[in-house]
Amino acid sequence: MDEKRVRLRANGVSRSGWAEPRRSLADFLREDLGLTGTHVGCEHGACGACTVLLDGEPVRSCLMLAVQADGREITTVEGLSPSALLNPLQEAMRDSHAFQCGFCTPGFLTTLTSFMSERPDGASREEIRDYLSGNLCRCSGYQTIIDGVELAMSRRSAQPAGGAQAGGDAGAEVMA
Ligand code: FES
Ligand code: FES
Repeated sequence: MDEKRVRLRANGVSRSGWAEPRRSLADFLREDLGLTGTHVGCEHGACGACTVLLDGEPVRSCLMLAVQADGREITTVEGLSPSALLNPLQEAMRDSHAFQCGFCTPGFLTTLTSFMSERPDGASREEIRDYLSGNLCRCSGYQTIIDGVELAMSRRSAQPAGGAQAGGDAGAEVMA
């Protein structure tokens, strides 16, 4: 099958590659662009592990074709912090012991990045749970994940105006 040129911005950097029209965005990101932080679980849209941000909106990269991302802005888990430090959301999840094996973590973090920006005034546990209903975790029981979101939101609301925000770079730990 003929390959098509795909040009996109991934984590703020212009990237390009060739992809067959049937190639998924998840495979293109992982295997062609080397962005292996995006995980692939079910490959049919059920688990959320492959979630990335497309122009700021969470999408299942296993359900999207690479050619559909041509000309778009993609953010993967590697791009959530502008440096190798954890961002405030990641710090809060770490401090809450939110995850165990970490397979689901990239999908949760990209989804929650969108949620945090949609909800500058915070959210209830029920609202957090509802927003995360498309992300599966086989380890944590979800309570610690929701604890982490609440912690990130409470720390953000305690920040003085103009201080570091959830997507910012106030962390102090280098990501593994
Ligand atoms: S791998 Fe895409 S939703 Fe499960
Ligand atoms: S931490 Fe293991 S699947 Fe979520």
